[in-house]
Formats: sequence, C-alpha cells, structure tokens
Amino acid sequence: MDPTAEALIDRLVGAWADVAREAIHQRGVFHAALSGGSTPKPFYEKLGTDLRCSDHWLHTHIWVVDERRVSQDDQRSNFRMIRHALIDPAHVAGERVHPVPVSDDDPAAAYEAQLRRVFQARRGVPRLDFVLLGVGDDAHTASLFPGSPAQSAKGWVANNEGPSVTPPPRVTMTYRLLNGAREIGVLVTGSGKAGVLRRVAQQLREHGPDPVALPITGVQPTAGRLTWYLDAAAASGLSPKTSS
Ligand code: 6PG
Repeated sequence: MDPTAEALIDRLVGAWADVAREAIHQRGVFHAALSGGSTPKPFYEKLGTDLRCSDHWLHTHIWVVDERRVSQDDQRSNFRMIRHALIDPAHVAGERVHPVPVSDDDPAAAYEAQLRRVFQARRGVPRLDFVLLGVGDDAHTASLFPGSPAQSAKGWVANNEGPSVTPPPRVTMTYRLLNGAREIGVLVTGSGKAGVLRRVAQQLREHGPDPVALPITGVQPTAGRLTWYLDAAAASGLSPKTSS
C-alpha cells in the first residue's frame, strides 16, 4: 500500500477513536455509518485489529450508508464486506449492527423506521456520530448518483434505481440524514480518483456545490465537521491550495 495511504488510515483510526470516546462520554453511545466499495476495506481491517480489545464496541452501533439490493452473501453486498472486515473481528454484538433490510418491499422505509426506533427520534433528523463516505469516478457518494431520484428525496433513507443509477438497485442514506452527522470523513485513495477529485475541487472553488452533477458536493454538514482523507495519489491533481 502507498505509504501515504497507510498514514491516512492511521489518522482515520485515530479520528474514529476520538469521536467514539467523545460520543460515549457525552451520550453513552456511538453511532457510525459506513460505506461500501473497495476503498474503505483496509481502514475497517485496521480498525478491527488496532481497536479489537477496546470497550467502545460495547457502546457502538454500526449502520450502513448505502446498500445494493442483493443478498448478504452476494459479493456485491456492502454489509458482507463490512461484516468480514470489521464487525466479525471486532465482535460487535448483533443487536447493535444494522444491515439494510434489502429484501423488504420498501427497504428505505424499513431502515428509516429502524433509525427512528433506535434513536428514539420523535422529531428532527437523528444525528449520526461518524459517517464514512467514498467517491465514485462519476462523483457519486453513498448511492446518490448524478441526476438520480434519491438526490431529491425528503426522507432519511431512499430507494434508488433507474437509468442514472449503476445497477443493481440501491438503498441509500439521503443528504438530509448524512449532513446532520457530527463528523463526516470522505476517504479517497489511488490515482484513479485524481481526475474526479480535480473536478470536484474546481467546482467547489469556482461555483460552489452542484449536487445533481457532482453528488459528493452535496455533502455539506449542517452543524458537524467534514474532513477529506486523501492519499498522495488521489490528491495528485489538486493545486497545493486544495490538497489535504
Ligand atoms: C458503494 C459505495 C459508494 C462508494 C464509491 C467508491 O456501495 O459503491 O458506498 O458510494 O463509496 O462508489 O467506491 P470505491 O471505493 O470502490 O471506489
């Protein structure tokens, strides 16, 4: 692995530990929402190794940012990857693990009901403590694809499919839920992402967010913090002013 990617993952493990400690100290519980894709796997593995014996898992809830509507044994399942890389090694107890109920008729409504129940949310959007996002080559994040219906969804979770969504059909947390998080980390590694990051940085610098064309630019925390975690290869197309 690129040494800057390794250092980045260590920083992210440190950020996770800090946010978890603070959340548990303040509220007695830590809610994390994790993305799939290939980029975060080494981070989840490191987290499961470095913090394996930590007590914070006893107070940690794991949610899934977005999911493909496939079975949990399917290679394309985000939950499958997260379970193997993190949940199983860290022994996070089943009652605090929240896979998306993909086989439900309306998984978005069912997941939203689960969030409402666990957060005991009567009004207002639940505040996730830590959200980890990635960025696709087309600048999608979560399963919010350019020009796709879920981008304008009013709820906390949306089903997303159609011509603008890379198959299979998806279920995704919406901007409304994601942007309410206390801490959002966007992890991007590898030279293959340099081009999309350059476009995103240019858009933000020159015109501001354009969530329809570049969904990641719609991630704008309402009261939390957004941190970009980029390795040298991913950041190689950015000017020094915009690199992390
Ligand atoms: C998914 C993700 C998605 C991901 C990006 C980047 O289910 O695909 O949650 O939003 O973060 O597509 O994916 P890679 O890490 O594989 O490049």
